[in-house]
Amino acid sequence: MANQQPLRVALVGLGTVGSGVAKILLENSEHIKQRAGREIEIVSAIVRDPTKTRNVKLPEGILATSFDLIEAPEVDVVCELIGGTTTAGDIVRQGLTANKHVVTANKALLCEQGDELFQLAQQNGKTICFEAAVAGGVPVIDGVAQSLAANKIQSIKAILNGTSNYILTEMLDHNTSYEDAVSKAQDKGYAEADPKMDVDGTDAAQKLTILAQLAFGTKASLSDFPRQGIDELNLADLKYADELGYRVKLLAIARRNNGFLELHTQPTLIRKNLPMAAVYDAYNMIEVEGDAVGKTWFAGMGAGQMPTASAVVSDLIDLAVGRAQQTFPLLDLWGQSEPLPILPAEKIERKYYLRFHAFDQPGTISSIATILGNHGISIASCIQHDFEIQSGGSAASVVPFVVMTHATTEGQMRAADEELANCNAIQPDYLRLPIQG
Ligand SMILES: NC(=O)c1ccc[n+]([C@@H]2O[C@H](COP(=O)([O-])OP(=O)(O)OC[C@H]3O[C@@H](n4cnc5c(N)ncnc54)[C@H](OP(=O)(O)O)[C@@H]3O)[C@@H](O)[C@H]2O)c1
Repeated sequence: MANQQPLRVALVGLGTVGSGVAKILLENSEHIKQRAGREIEIVSAIVRDPTKTRNVKLPEGILATSFDLIEAPEVDVVCELIGGTTTAGDIVRQGLTANKHVVTANKALLCEQGDELFQLAQQNGKTICFEAAVAGGVPVIDGVAQSLAANKIQSIKAILNGTSNYILTEMLDHNTSYEDAVSKAQDKGYAEADPKMDVDGTDAAQKLTILAQLAFGTKASLSDFPRQGIDELNLADLKYADELGYRVKLLAIARRNNGFLELHTQPTLIRKNLPMAAVYDAYNMIEVEGDAVGKTWFAGMGAGQMPTASAVVSDLIDLAVGRAQQTFPLLDLWGQSEPLPILPAEKIERKYYLRFHAFDQPGTISSIATILGNHGISIASCIQHDFEIQSGGSAASVVPFVVMTHATTEGQMRAADEELANCNAIQPDYLRLPIQG
């Protein structure tokens, strides 16, 4: 073997993912040595509270609290696993400046500061590995960056948030309300005590920006594209979609569109016969379409201790072998090729599912049709059930009314939304979701 010295790692953070990484490195050390060509050794494990009980037994003397250890000469790689963006960003900068490679699972950090950190790594001739930051244990970063390198990527369509996918599955399959499905996800450890970033689409959108930069060289921030979460859906919407032949999934999409990059993260109706519609529970799936290979699908657990740790350790093995140092400078992360500009949201064209809670009175349907028609939106089909959402007593009762549109632009829909907001034939809780495939 060319390099028999161990690869020496400073593990920063020993929580869910960090302790999983330590477990794999300690328990599978022989297997890892064989695959990496040398040992991977934890030389320090830096935490906030050294008195906390950990579910991994570390070698004596490596638990520490000082970030100064990152710069120690015996450290080759800094593994940032603390989360957040402020301290984590400082740690990554400190490591790169001290000539260490970096491995991180932190999508929020890469979404917010990736551009700057990748440039810093390039200037210092160091590598940032981030397989675990998108879809946890699913090797999609490696897939896009290495295995599909022969292809010009045409599109990426992905279920990137396991928590949302679990909640949507639980609701439809077990006839559960949104609120009860969220608390079940929390009981199972799929959702944080505050699941906001998962259910409002932020987490999936952050991961989409990383994939967009990797596959298309485009640097997008979260405000550059439509983002909607599953937190405004209710069980009835999943059932109406089911009745029409669709499943609702939180879908993140990046695709080439006439010289632009179309980007959005939204709950989306997907035809039931498509692979993405069959992804259940907390699983992730990423469909990557290349110009030569056609469509490929990557699927598996997008979060959780051991799946995420699996991705982190694979990055460490890539660094130990020397592969990552060779391929990282060649990735399209610096915009050396002309990046695709982002398609303005108003120009995104799709079919839509529109759900109204409408007053059961003469003229309601024609009011809705007139507003849609005013904005050039053509109706493909509609369903109206005669059960009441709300009894009207002496006034009109409220019934669900669902419209499926032909393809129209986001701009036309936004203009119609404004008019619908003032339409007194419907309640204000109108829901609009795009349709895929
Ligand atoms: N959990 C998942 O399934 C998953 C999946 C994919 C990606 N990720 C990403 O992986 C990263 C880590 O997530 P996690 O779930 O493992 O987090 P976690 O369980 O909260 O663990 C965080 C660790 O970082 C340490 N830490 C936090 N702030 C610190 C500070 N200021 N100084 C020193 N140590 C500090 C904590 O120390 P103490 O133990 O002493 O408190 C703890 O060991 C995040 O970026 C997350 O987005 C997680």
